[in-house]
Amino acid sequence: MPDTVLVTGGAGYVGSHIVVGLAQAGYAPVVLDTFANSTRAVMPRLEALAGRPVPVITADVRDVVALRSAFHDHPIAAVVHCAGLKTIGESEERPLAFYDVNVGGALSLIEVMGEAGVATLVFGSSAAVYGQPPISPVPEDTVVAPQSVYGRTTRVVEDFLRDLAHANANWRIAIVRGFNAAGAHSSGMLGAAPRSRPSDLLSLLARVASGDLGEVQVCGNDWPTPDGTGVRDYIHVQDLADAHVQALKQLAHTPGALAFNAGSGRTQSVQEVVMAFERACGRKIGRLNAPRRPGDVAGFSADIERGRALGWRPTRGLDAICADTWRWQKSGSRY
Ligand code: WQD
Repeated sequence: MPDTVLVTGGAGYVGSHIVVGLAQAGYAPVVLDTFANSTRAVMPRLEALAGRPVPVITADVRDVVALRSAFHDHPIAAVVHCAGLKTIGESEERPLAFYDVNVGGALSLIEVMGEAGVATLVFGSSAAVYGQPPISPVPEDTVVAPQSVYGRTTRVVEDFLRDLAHANANWRIAIVRGFNAAGAHSSGMLGAAPRSRPSDLLSLLARVASGDLGEVQVCGNDWPTPDGTGVRDYIHVQDLADAHVQALKQLAHTPGALAFNAGSGRTQSVQEVVMAFERACGRKIGRLNAPRRPGDVAGFSADIERGRALGWRPTRGLDAICADTWRWQKSGSRY
């Protein structure tokens, strides 16, 4: 009987790829999602790629009654927690909503896990906790200094998870600090399909290449970077999903709380990404210089040695990210 793993936010962009990765690793995933920023139409595709039925619980992760029902109805052995609000720009406009969902949701989840005696958790954290670190590539033991509301909500959750593991030796917690998730499933069946207008660079480039948008706004060209545009560590969403699966496997013999970076280990600038996308789609991408966005930083990359030591490493680069994003866009980028 495979271990049942509850994936909160499992219908979302990263969560759906984690669900597939878990099933392919022999686990029995169960999705809990509000479908506020995803659609039920993803579920048949998830099941096709997972090769098994994937039960769905339509609920908000802050709803302890719904969470209790989930743990009552399913033999959940572990949780991968992805549900939350993630967009940095939006977090600057809606701080209380981000604290309510991201911190309140995690607290509700931990409360019900404790009641159910389930103490194995993978938390989908973010490089946003680092802010703009003093060194790059940034190792996990760097003092974090988030510069966005989203990053600060994520840091709060990390802190209370560490305090929980310190207070109770039964807890096994992996904190996966995802860098910039990008790309789409190589099958063409999964990808970013937000209900609201995307704000992430790769999705916007795909919209420009397909003619939905006129040009991409380059948000800042005076950053302290080689070409003046922002740099990020882009990680293929399937590699990021694999990092969560590998983290879960490691928890079988790693008590306590451990953070590890899930990034490519290198940075690429906006200009470099635009040029890579032009190669992938065979079209020129119009660019417009624009001001920096609130909450943005120049950027940095991940030190991924700890992840390698835990048996994980990224296997796909920027060209695969662009090719898979473009394939998803041409397929309609909807479910
Ligand atoms: C990437 C680069 C922009 C749009 C996001 C989420 C964050 C985290 C990681 C979860 C930056 C530049 C972008 C545009 C641009 N997700 N850019 N013009 O902001 O690093 O973080 O992914 O953990 O929560 O917000 O990603 O794709 O928005 O920006 O120049 O129209 O592209 O300045 O340098 P970001 P992004």
